[in-house]
Amino acid sequence: MIKLIPKQQKLSLREVKPGGKLIGKLKVPGDKSISHRALLFGSIAEGETIIKGLLPAEDPISTANCLRAMGVKISSIESDKVVSIQGVGLDGLKEPSEVLNCGNSGTTMRLLLGLLVGRKGRHFVLNGDKSLNKRPMQRVRQPLKLMGAEINGRSDGDLAPLSIVGRNLHGAVIGTPVASAQVKSAILLAALTAEGSTKVIEPTSSRDHSERMLKAFGANLEVSGERGRHISVWPGSKLLGQSIVVPGDISSAAFWLIAGTIIPNSELTIENVGLNPTRTGILKVMEQMEANIELINIRDVAGEPVGDIKVIHNDQLKPFKIDSSLVPSLVDEIPILSVAACFCDGTTKITGASELRVKETDRLKVMTRQLLRMGANIEEHPDGLTIHGVDHLKGNHLDSETDHRVAMSLAIASIVAKGTSTIERSNAAAVSYPEFWNDLERLRG
Ligand code: S3P
Repeated sequence: MIKLIPKQQKLSLREVKPGGKLIGKLKVPGDKSISHRALLFGSIAEGETIIKGLLPAEDPISTANCLRAMGVKISSIESDKVVSIQGVGLDGLKEPSEVLNCGNSGTTMRLLLGLLVGRKGRHFVLNGDKSLNKRPMQRVRQPLKLMGAEINGRSDGDLAPLSIVGRNLHGAVIGTPVASAQVKSAILLAALTAEGSTKVIEPTSSRDHSERMLKAFGANLEVSGERGRHISVWPGSKLLGQSIVVPGDISSAAFWLIAGTIIPNSELTIENVGLNPTRTGILKVMEQMEANIELINIRDVAGEPVGDIKVIHNDQLKPFKIDSSLVPSLVDEIPILSVAACFCDGTTKITGASELRVKETDRLKVMTRQLLRMGANIEEHPDGLTIHGVDHLKGNHLDSETDHRVAMSLAIASIVAKGTSTIERSNAAAVSYPEFWNDLERLRG
């Protein structure tokens, strides 16, 4: 039902025929955010870190390769079921003789900035692909500069390639203008070796995987304030190698949650999904939609809540509202939620989501452009979308525009559309979910 069109392999053009239902159980790959952090924190810990369930996708591979270029021994992410890292300690990263290539990964670049600015006397150059080199880095550079960091790049240091000269850092109290876990985590990493304590104050709390994992590694870190918006770090503690279990990524499960809801006669159970409350905004939205979902077997795995989610098709979906208070907890799920909105009976409003404009693509613009090709009734606003439910979407020639989450959202939309679709640059999915197309084929089987 899905085939890669051979002559078009360069564009990874896939043909998706509509129809069929999705039935069965699946496990989604490991959480991308947790995977990056396990690699980074394991590398600066002392002793060995063992990671089960690490995401074997392009983004974490970029992080691992950068760390390897600085002398860290990391076993194969692609082929090892359990990845091991021989940590080099807080100050053990070597000056690399090559440019550190962050690929498509914003998390790699932003967290590395925080990690490297305090490596006194060492030079580093960070580069990314075309998309990453257009994304704003000033949001990380500015607070790090307040701590004494030296980062240079195009547009007054906003755009990669970026160069870093390691400096002695000092602690600071920093209010971040955007709720971004990447910005927060970069500051926390810099704070580990700064002189004096550092406090980060976020406008709304973003995902807290760094806080949880740094504490487990032995960092002296305290979370306080309303909904954990204040995070303080005191330097001086050693990090010690840990055993980490990475849960399935709720941002990857999101495609199946929506597919199971909108594809007629579907019934799916997604096992072992991370349910960290800073990430579960999509479940709140699905409640608003009156989707049929059930959380089963909720448990704690290595400091993160995990559970299985069962979803059954529902053809009477209610429209939903997403505003700035909800956005950080579902920021990566808005592309697939905008597909879901097309199948709701009424008008969905998404506001406070201008952050989507600085993701791997401008996701508000790209989802509007692609869904309009499918006959959606969607309007783009500076900070969001208005989507009116339609009777059906129609198949068309579509394009991920190089964005992994757009590729997967369009795949699900194409299955429920009338008529065949072709999706250009469908292989973008490999950035976070290399087995996505195979899982889709198997579930439709
Ligand atoms: C991430 C944080 C989010 C998210 C990204 C991963 C992380 O970005 O969109 O995919 O791992 O910290 P922001 O922190 O920039 O919102």
